[in-house]
Amino acid sequence: MDTRSIGVFDSGLGGISVLRDIVELMPCENYIYFGDSAHAPYGTKTREAILERSEQCTNFLLAKDVKAIVIACNTATSVAASTLRQQYPSIPIIGIEPALKPAVLWKEHDKVAVMATPATLALPKFHELMKHYSKESDIYPVPCPGLADYVEKGIFDGEEITEFLKGLLAPSLEKHVDAIVLGCTHYPFVEKVIQRIAGPDVKIFNGAHGTALELQRRLRIAELLTPSIEKGTVEFYSSSTNPETIKLCHQLFEA
Ligand code: SIN
Repeated sequence: MDTRSIGVFDSGLGGISVLRDIVELMPCENYIYFGDSAHAPYGTKTREAILERSEQCTNFLLAKDVKAIVIACNTATSVAASTLRQQYPSIPIIGIEPALKPAVLWKEHDKVAVMATPATLALPKFHELMKHYSKESDIYPVPCPGLADYVEKGIFDGEEITEFLKGLLAPSLEKHVDAIVLGCTHYPFVEKVIQRIAGPDVKIFNGAHGTALELQRRLRIAELLTPSIEKGTVEFYSSSTNPETIKLCHQLFEA
């Protein structure tokens, strides 16, 4: 039993989509969210730069005495999760990965598009995942450089992002995909636009709920769940000095 906060970090605002699922599952825990918006996006950075930023985010949260850390960023998980776990073996560190399993299991022999950053799709972790599930389904990676930037700018709908997404999705929609996996935590904030472009028959999946369940499981095993039965607190921090960023964090969390 432990009343300390759970730390959650992302390259910017996207991880708030994961935080929302976690808070829904465990409302009595306290949370500290750190968005590295001054250095977003991670998805077009080198592995060294992503690792360095992930270490900075982890150190920020550890200085706040968190009891567990969630890497609410697909790119940072792919690059840095195993290194961070080696560096801090005494603290549970939970990552997120593209929700390929539920998408593949959803329909027999379906066609699945995976939207993610170029970094996530280029890493061996994704290639292993794709190899594993491509026995059951046809999988189409959709690199989305620039998409996380729209979310960071607070653009969630409108003509510009619709045209941008149409361009990204056109090759996989021509293949008549049945499902789309949102393999970056920023993308759930533009899910409505993606659904509108793909049409109502295409099912959209994201990994946030799986991450929330895994966090709960790890806290239970380590006897770190809070004994509190009161609603917990959520604090937001950002590396950006723009005061609008923290306002946007609250808006996205409450939306
Ligand atoms: C990015 O910072 O480029 C996106 C973060 C993610 O992969 O979830």
